[in-house]
Amino acid sequence: MNQTWWKQSVVYQIYPRSFMDSNGDGIGDLQGIISKLDYIKNLGINVIWLSPVYKSPNDDNGYDISDYQDIMDEFGTMKDWEELLAKIHKRGMKLIMDLVINHSSDEHSWFVEARKSKDNPYRDYYIWRPAKDDREPTNWYSNFGGSAWEYDATTNEYYLHLFSKKQPDLNWRNPKLRQEVYEMMKWWLDKGIDGFRMDVINFISKPEILQDGEPKPGKKYASGSKFYRNGPNIHDYLQEMNHQVLSAYDVMTVGEMPGVTPELARLYTEESRKELNMVFQFEHMGLDNGPYGKWDLKRLDLLDLKLNLTKWQKALEDKGWNSLYFNNHDQPRSVSRFGNDKEYRVESAKMLATLLHMMKGTPYVYQGEEIGMTNIQFESINDYRDIEIHNFYREQKEEGIPEEKIMESIYVKGRDNSRTPMQWNSSTNAGFSTGTPWMKVNPNYTEINAEQELTKQNSIYHYYCKLIQLRKDHEIIVYGGYDLLNEDHPEIFSYKRTLRNQTLLVICNFYENEPVFKLPDSIQYKSANLLISNYERGEVSLGEQINLLPYEARVYLLFGE
Ligand code: NOJ
Repeated sequence: MNQTWWKQSVVYQIYPRSFMDSNGDGIGDLQGIISKLDYIKNLGINVIWLSPVYKSPNDDNGYDISDYQDIMDEFGTMKDWEELLAKIHKRGMKLIMDLVINHSSDEHSWFVEARKSKDNPYRDYYIWRPAKDDREPTNWYSNFGGSAWEYDATTNEYYLHLFSKKQPDLNWRNPKLRQEVYEMMKWWLDKGIDGFRMDVINFISKPEILQDGEPKPGKKYASGSKFYRNGPNIHDYLQEMNHQVLSAYDVMTVGEMPGVTPELARLYTEESRKELNMVFQFEHMGLDNGPYGKWDLKRLDLLDLKLNLTKWQKALEDKGWNSLYFNNHDQPRSVSRFGNDKEYRVESAKMLATLLHMMKGTPYVYQGEEIGMTNIQFESINDYRDIEIHNFYREQKEEGIPEEKIMESIYVKGRDNSRTPMQWNSSTNAGFSTGTPWMKVNPNYTEINAEQELTKQNSIYHYYCKLIQLRKDHEIIVYGGYDLLNEDHPEIFSYKRTLRNQTLLVICNFYENEPVFKLPDSIQYKSANLLISNYERGEVSLGEQINLLPYEARVYLLFGE
């Protein structure tokens, strides 16, 4: 396997709106990020992924871009951005930008033009269709609820929007649109950035003829995802993009891909195919979804997680590459979701980090994860900011679902769980802003904040530092093979990594019981070193059996012949 810098990196994701406000307007900004670069650097981070900072009316917090080559006023100026890039580079880190090219904002000049008339030169930059049988062109629902089509009276046609109606989908069948996008990408790359995280990039290829999705009883709209996810020309577009743009730069790319399978991920990331470096897959994020999707709550079964992550580890073991994540700006906080954010918050946050960071792939840390930030529960829907949450709430209300049931889903799965302001210290507004934050801070900031984490020797933050350093010190963590151990154990997730005569043994107790880990016969070794553990215990040598404490995690490095 080729060795590359992005395989050896750990990425830190910043959601700028909620990271650090420098000017007291309640909204995080670029100067705020600059003021915290040493904090990120000290964690051992190599690459920063910046969620969108482009001009945007903020219908979806910057994922609706009205100018790809300018900075959102609330975040600062292009000069601030240039300073940010220079200061990231000065610290030996890299910067990847979010690239949102499945859709733009309806306020982008292309769309403003496109909707003027059917023969406007920009018309074909978007996807337009006439009504079918007096209703929408297809029965597809939007990922944010309601129809995926919006009627536009000026030209008496509908345009497609897989997300909000202020996010019209771009028409990738149009070569002119593709060229514009490629030029824009080059413009950023020439400014010196180090790559892109590509938003729902496997949605960009739509079939020429759009068909109805399979209707569900009692539902007005149906999923069209089988037609637009991993669509007919997706590999051609990515290869064209790689050929015309990416191949000229030493950069990293990660494609966000809902609905991607391991087989497809291999096609997207196998180096010889020249598409992307890695993808964000979602299968493990769906294991606590009930049959009706994300808002339908179900408890995660550890056996499902083991099988799923193992499937991904094995599928991309020799060809392609995995990204590793439990958190991002769209997901609830992992310590609340998979751990125990009360009695065992520290232990379970460290256990989850161990499980993820010792796997093969590039790990991603989402702001606040490194200090064990937790989910939020606002009493009133009015305190929530996310468009997806509000659309869900409204639709559920219309269907007569009781308030408590709706709020319960929002508490567990809502995206605002991860978007409350970063908790820097115990002063007003968690030190995030001197003004009124755009979204309320989590009241637990007096106990959970970065300042405390930095002072405490055994903090989650310092544990992350150690995990990240281990990856730098031990090639086996980056490049070693992976095998699941004790496959059927319902409470312990254990696996081994192997490289030459070394074995890395990773043991994670996923729950608060105290199960016994039994060393499989297949593991033979001459000496064993404990590399990291989330408990301070006197006796740590490796034996035939280990009595694990709640959420205990241990990693041993074993040497064989
Ligand atoms: C995925 C992004 O991560 C999410 O935040 C956004 O709402 C959608 N794509 C639409 O851009």
